[in-house]
Amino acid sequence: MKKILFVTSEAHPLIKTGGLGDVAGSLPKALAELGQDVRLIIPNYQSLKASGEIHFLTSLRVDNMSVNILETQLQDSAVKVWLVDQPEYFGHPGNPYIDETGNDRANNAERFALFCRIAVEVAMNRANLDWKADVVHCNDWQTGLVPALLSFEDYLPASVFTIHNLAYQGLFPASKFYSLNLPGRLWTPDGLEFHGLLSFIKGGLVYSDRITTVSPTYAKEIQSPELGYNLDGLLTYRNASLIGIINGIDVDQWNPATDTHISQQYDVHSLERKAANKTALQQRLGLPVDSAIPVFGVITRLVEQKGIDLLLQYLPELIAMPVQFAVLGSGDHAIELKLQELAVAYPDKLSVTIGYDEVLSHSIEAGADIFIMPSRFEPCGMNQMYSQRYGTLPIVRKTGGLADTVEDALPETIANDTASGIVFNEATPGSLLEAIKRALLLYQNPAAWKRIQARGMSKDFSWQQSAKQYLALYDGI
Ligand code: ADP
Ligand code: GLC
Repeated sequence: MKKILFVTSEAHPLIKTGGLGDVAGSLPKALAELGQDVRLIIPNYQSLKASGEIHFLTSLRVDNMSVNILETQLQDSAVKVWLVDQPEYFGHPGNPYIDETGNDRANNAERFALFCRIAVEVAMNRANLDWKADVVHCNDWQTGLVPALLSFEDYLPASVFTIHNLAYQGLFPASKFYSLNLPGRLWTPDGLEFHGLLSFIKGGLVYSDRITTVSPTYAKEIQSPELGYNLDGLLTYRNASLIGIINGIDVDQWNPATDTHISQQYDVHSLERKAANKTALQQRLGLPVDSAIPVFGVITRLVEQKGIDLLLQYLPELIAMPVQFAVLGSGDHAIELKLQELAVAYPDKLSVTIGYDEVLSHSIEAGADIFIMPSRFEPCGMNQMYSQRYGTLPIVRKTGGLADTVEDALPETIANDTASGIVFNEATPGSLLEAIKRALLLYQNPAAWKRIQARGMSKDFSWQQSAKQYLALYDGI
């Protein structure tokens, strides 16, 4: 049994802004089910929602700051969660990274540097918790300083750094390096310095024993200039220590047979019941109730990565066809406004919900016929997997984890029951339009449609295999 400290800035259902929350809320559970002693460590944001009891464990001083460690439990599991409680840094309502004006919080460098220092104290058994980590598993830039700081320790635990999205790097002015009091030896181009800036993510990429990312295809893509964000050289250099492990999903949370957020539960043997969810979705969103019109779902952060602009380009043309769109998302204000304008112009065709709404996200997965993910890049992506499990055909661009988890519907893949969605190549509005037209054509063929639904619903997206891969990785260090 290994003692694993899982360091993360979000974990569902405590706090979530995207797929990292999904992963950090479910991978530790899967590791615990494989007999490992996993502890999660996460900042105690004001907006964090613990389902169980929270109690005080200990307090420690780091960088002249007093920090409490509280403990709670990850929902439906034995995984203990350690909350890093420092109200000045984490006691604000709302998004963990962004303030009310939509900008990064001004003291993000200080906030996550403190979080990393505390994670190191905990990992090294210097926090009165009587627990020393064998493995420290870090995630994304917010945790990048952990492997860097651990490199100064004797008898240090093994470290793993998972890249969920290389586009977010935690870059700050060089002056922060000094004001954060980081060890001088780290300030080199082979360390935390990145073209004159302080890079948190480099702490993970340079100093961890192993680097992972969330799909095999993305592991290759980030070693090329196109998706490497000037870190492709470093990642290629560390190639022997870099592996892509596809994310699993929480198969209890995302199970149409037991999902309490949806109107009518169903499974692959009672697919006809999915129709009630479509009706409920159309009613809820004020779209005309019509079982024959294909409903396209979109649930996403509205940022360039996700390629929603590709959809917007031909939306007026698309809307002329017999279709309905159910869009849920938030992010870039310009995209939000454009979507809202279109929704006002075409109320019978397009419903747009701006915000974060977990219940609606389940209703869309269950009620839509087709789910669209035209991402420019996608390290893994979760919704294409949820969609397949809900018998909702995903249309995805062939990139990252989307390429690894969806099999394109072609005559031969339909015939041999491997097709599970529609895959298109180019990140252009035309290619997406073409893919949507293919989906509409396929929709006219209920027998083929049902086979593709059945294939998607019977695929194993659980953490079983991937959690074992992480264990093997920890063992190999
Ligand atoms: P990313 O992490 O890049 O945003 P993923 O596909 O990995 O993309 O994961 C996104 C997760 O966040 C999914 O669980 C998705 O359902 C959820 N999500 C995204 N936007 C919203 C929203 N507006 N409301 C509810 N859930 C959302
Ligand atoms: C990131 C990526 C997404 C991935 C998620 C969880 O947010 O953008 O593709 O699924 O992390 O690993």
